[in-house]
Amino acid sequence: MHSPASTRPAYRSRVPGHWPFAAKRALTRALLTATAVAASALHAADEARPRVAILATGGTIAGVQAHPGAAAYRPGVLTLDHLLSQLPGLEKVAHLDGEQVSNIASQDITAERWLNLARRAAAHLDKPEVHGLVITHGTDTMEESAWFLRLVLRTEKPVILTGAMLPATHPEADGPNNLRSAVAIAASPSARGYGPLLLLNGELHPARDVRKTATEAIDTFQSPNDGTVGSASPAGPAFTVSASSIRPAPGGGFDLAALDAATLPRVVVVAAHGDADATVVDALLALPAERRPAGIVLAGVGNGNASAPLLAALERASREGIIIVRSSRTGRGLVNRNMEVDDDKLGWIAARALSPQKARILLALALTRTRDLAEIQGLFDEA
Ligand code: SIN
Repeated sequence: MHSPASTRPAYRSRVPGHWPFAAKRALTRALLTATAVAASALHAADEARPRVAILATGGTIAGVQAHPGAAAYRPGVLTLDHLLSQLPGLEKVAHLDGEQVSNIASQDITAERWLNLARRAAAHLDKPEVHGLVITHGTDTMEESAWFLRLVLRTEKPVILTGAMLPATHPEADGPNNLRSAVAIAASPSARGYGPLLLLNGELHPARDVRKTATEAIDTFQSPNDGTVGSASPAGPAFTVSASSIRPAPGGGFDLAALDAATLPRVVVVAAHGDADATVVDALLALPAERRPAGIVLAGVGNGNASAPLLAALERASREGIIIVRSSRTGRGLVNRNMEVDDDKLGWIAARALSPQKARILLALALTRTRDLAEIQGLFDEA
């Protein structure tokens, strides 16, 4: 038996492929609208994700053990692409612009590499769409790179240096968590204005004070004079110190565009110790003029002091035009002027809060600007 023709449409309208034209068109429009709304919501969410640049330089975070379980390892082996491939979901935190600047153990950092790193950092930070920068780096000289960047980068944007104490192939590698946290901090608006910060072991350290204090401990980085500025996790930073309480770069910082590794004044560190004599300083003075350092930083005992023979040798160096800065090997506290050593009489500089290795960087940069002792002391006072 045939069904009456009039009943067919009601039945057919429920069968896919047999809808009346108007219903189909309405449904298509609704689907298109819904798709467009969903796409635009996704697009908006995508646009809202901050953009973070990552510069990789090497270090233990990119290190590989000689074989599984080995204590021996080589830093600076794995690429940034490899490190990021171990961090699924990081793209949801931020758009990532990665760049492999070098892949070295950080003891091999040089003035040329610092300048290159600073220029690549500035190139990314200058882009309006970039919210912040992460730098992966070996821990051995990370504090020096952070300080160098503090002195030459002019930015309010977050700059987070991180690394690892255990190589990437270690079962308890700390690098992945550090890198996740660093990206979250660089993406956070609350991290603006602090200057370069160093992140390890969930702690955020300011560039001026931080130093590596232990050969192997995960909590190796300490800021003995000022303390940390906050803590961090992959969820983001929790600051305990405001950005406005961080000292600005001394002298307003240095003009990166005007710096050249080939002409950067050479400054060396000479260590004081028991039974120290004049050997090292005399060897420096015996160098041909073009190879002599422009400055010597004394890593002094106590408040920047040294044995009588070493002080006498430094006095000779000073008379020959080498600028002398007294710092301390102790690791905490200030080196002030005219305590046990008469800086006024000798024409020497007191490093104040800076470690020998950071005083060396500031003196080299200061000497690109001036040889005036009061002006150089002023830069150290401001640091
Ligand atoms: C390095 O500084 O490159 C090696 C050590 C480390 O990253 O912990």
